[in-house]
Amino acid sequence: TENEPMRSYPLGSDDRAKLKQALDEMIAQGPQEVPVVINGEKIYTGNVAKQLNPSKHASAVCQYHQADAALTQKAIDGAMAAQAKWEALPFNERIAVFLKAADLLAHKYRYKTMAATMLGQGKNIWQAEIDAAAELCDFWRFNCKYAEEIYQQQPPKNSVGTWNRVEYRALEGFVLAVSPFNFTAIGGNLPSAPAVMGNVVLWKPSPSAVWSNYIVYEILVEAGMPPGVIQFVPGDAEQVCSTALADPRFASLHFTGSTKVFRKLWADVGQNINKYNAYPRLVGETGGKNFHLLHPDLDSNAVRHAALQTIRGAFEYQGQKCSACSRCYVPKSLYPEFKKQIVAEHAKITQGPVWEFNHFTGPVINKFAFDKIKSYVDHAAADSNCTIIAGGKYDDSVGYFVQPTIVETTDPLTKTMTEEIFGPVVTVYAYDDDKFDETCALIGDTTEYALTGAYFATNREHIVHGTNLLRKFAGNFYVNDKCTGAVVGQQPFGGGKGSGTNDKAGSWTLLLRFINMRTIKENF
Ligand code: SER
Repeated sequence: TENEPMRSYPLGSDDRAKLKQALDEMIAQGPQEVPVVINGEKIYTGNVAKQLNPSKHASAVCQYHQADAALTQKAIDGAMAAQAKWEALPFNERIAVFLKAADLLAHKYRYKTMAATMLGQGKNIWQAEIDAAAELCDFWRFNCKYAEEIYQQQPPKNSVGTWNRVEYRALEGFVLAVSPFNFTAIGGNLPSAPAVMGNVVLWKPSPSAVWSNYIVYEILVEAGMPPGVIQFVPGDAEQVCSTALADPRFASLHFTGSTKVFRKLWADVGQNINKYNAYPRLVGETGGKNFHLLHPDLDSNAVRHAALQTIRGAFEYQGQKCSACSRCYVPKSLYPEFKKQIVAEHAKITQGPVWEFNHFTGPVINKFAFDKIKSYVDHAAADSNCTIIAGGKYDDSVGYFVQPTIVETTDPLTKTMTEEIFGPVVTVYAYDDDKFDETCALIGDTTEYALTGAYFATNREHIVHGTNLLRKFAGNFYVNDKCTGAVVGQQPFGGGKGSGTNDKAGSWTLLLRFINMRTIKENF
């Protein structure tokens, strides 16, 4: 299995022209209606909400119809009715759906899916390519490869006169997939990973990504996904999730989003635990407060590299990757050089609406995010221990634009150093060179998260020392690279502590959560 080749969209290229055309057509068409889809039937409930264009919030990218509790119940019943046939298909026939979906996305719907992700979620071309084209193809294809490997696993030992074997089957019920706005690929993977393993799924997409997610859903349908196997259920989280979690057939939650919401859903599951036919599997990837740490042994080229990677890790997609760098620890001896480099790189950043095509950054996702990020920038501006050394402005008059902002602090416990912001704000703290070990401990002690982290060092002993000290503070740990950009099939992705259940997306461990086994011992 190969990773989907990434395209670069250079000026004057055919790819770029086609993507531009798809985007222009989408803008000209105006907002489309997105239905709830249950058992293959498109349902226009009339209870509508809009997904706004974050680059220009006076316009919407789609109007989506919302499911209420009754429709959610209908979706559950329909999914359960589809379960036996779907699960009974030979797995090769199931995986064919996802392999075909990946090919359709790569070769037929690439530009459309990217355009929807750009317009609706505020991604620039390259971020859309990484996500809505490459990563989603990779999730679909690699899940198939891992499923095949899992199904081949059998107990290695039989004793004389005994034959041992295991049978794999789906979970005892349906899966609820609740997906985030920030990756179209995650939207696609949350329902698909359980479905590959023979499960049926209710998919509740994020209100801020319904449009691209619906296009992904239609690709799955065109690829041959039978009706009922994945039900597309946009709607009010309260109604959809509470209905699903109150049903005895609820078997698993596959979630990516905030720590707060995951904990709330987990608590709801706890409340309902006596109702269920089986213990539900709760799989979540949640918040983060991801770090970059520089060791004092870096030379000036390595410092420049670390500064550039920090700009990328912190500001690509406006810092709205769950993996984004949000705090940075630099030894005092290197700080003047690091500051010079990072401010110089920051000065090159451009920002604007996605259809202008060339900007490094775009808008943040919505008003709620804008206000939240703004409050952190304001806090840094007012805090006597902090100085904003680059950026710091924001403007939501047309779109939700927050300038990439670099805060310098003398207080490693200040709010922007310890709380998740989920926006383009990075805070830098200069530590005493002789306090490296203490700084590593500080990184772990000052947040509840452990998602991603990056460590920049040259000497091999220093690399090993820091890697050991930081062992539990990031589920994805990068040495001499930024803390974002995990590639499916290369770096399985997911964190621990408050960041999630550490079931790595893009790996076999995730798929194992969505199967049951029966062990059969037979005496001859
Ligand atoms: N997989 C993404 C990254 O590594 C985040 O979801 O950046």
